[in-house]
Amino acid sequence: MTVTEFGFRLLAKDGKARRGEISMPRGTIRTPAFMPVGTAATVKAMYLDQVRELGSDIILGNTYHLMLRPGAERVARLGGLHEFARWPYPILTDSGGFQIMSLASLRKMSEQGVTFRSHVDGSVHELSPERSIEIQGLLDADIQMQLDECIRLPADRNEIERAMELSLRWAERSAIAFGTQPGKAMFGIVQGGDQPDLRIRSAERLTAMNLKGYAVGGLAVGEPQSVMLETLDETLPSLPVEKPRYLMGVGTPDDILQSVARGIDMFDCVMPTRAGRHGLAFTKDGRVNLKNARHAEDPKPLDETSDCPATRDYSRAYLHHLVRADEALAGMLLTWNNLAYYQRLMAEMREAIELGRFQDFAAETTARWSRGEA
Ligand code: GUN
Repeated sequence: MTVTEFGFRLLAKDGKARRGEISMPRGTIRTPAFMPVGTAATVKAMYLDQVRELGSDIILGNTYHLMLRPGAERVARLGGLHEFARWPYPILTDSGGFQIMSLASLRKMSEQGVTFRSHVDGSVHELSPERSIEIQGLLDADIQMQLDECIRLPADRNEIERAMELSLRWAERSAIAFGTQPGKAMFGIVQGGDQPDLRIRSAERLTAMNLKGYAVGGLAVGEPQSVMLETLDETLPSLPVEKPRYLMGVGTPDDILQSVARGIDMFDCVMPTRAGRHGLAFTKDGRVNLKNARHAEDPKPLDETSDCPATRDYSRAYLHHLVRADEALAGMLLTWNNLAYYQRLMAEMREAIELGRFQDFAAETTARWSRGEA
């Protein structure tokens, strides 16, 4: 059957953890889902066929980077992002605001939008809610995000409230600019920092807009993990159960496990890819820093029981050597290992929810990480 509409189905629930399925014309997304970050139309150091083979149903792209280079209109002339990057499956694009905050200089916020200087060549650009949706449309993204303003924590309550209210007005403008597009979706983004009442107000007002999905933004921006998890506990009851929930920019394997336990369905993070390029491996027995001299003559692989060649077939000594010699293959193998581990963790969580044993799975997984036998 050809899918022509965006849809979300809950298949199982275990406590607050949810197992679901998003269906879209370009494919089905099994949730809880991890979306590898493909900022500049590439998941760094990986072939996209490998990314797919590891079990990724969707990847993320960035409005901010792609509008600056190679430019959204150019990508559109070349057939859209799927054709350009050769990834025919779903793509979610972030709206640009968050990356402007972290990368651009000379930022100026107004009711209309953001003016900023490109980190690539210093040129000045403007991004409004309408232009962000236009760019995401030119890229042909399947799931598009509203433009929002994300505040780093700790922050002043007045500042958090101002940015949250602005983000709500921008959600309305984004939704109007998006209109109705069969088979695609635009998600709203809950803001409100570490203030429970502001989070609830943001979630309720977005829910009233009847969007196709909801993200929780403004987390993992400087607060302890406990604050992030409390914020999820306080916010998620105000979001509709029948829509997907996406926690933006999170996180470590433990952040993801704890957030799935609270009812989050989707994640994206640079952690597995960026950490891989910096010599850090995630494994079922915890983190392994391959720069460390203790690996210099260790013939063991990262995990001989894994079905990922990067994890199973190369010695720690070899990986250590590649990292120390700053070889490109170091980043390639460790990114491969890390994405394999993240996607395996997601698959195991989905299975545990289906079997009604998520709590036990989470406890066993955490215990194994903290034994630190890696
Ligand atoms: N990525 C991580 N956090 C955020 C956020 O709050 N907003 C957006 N747009 N992207 C993010």
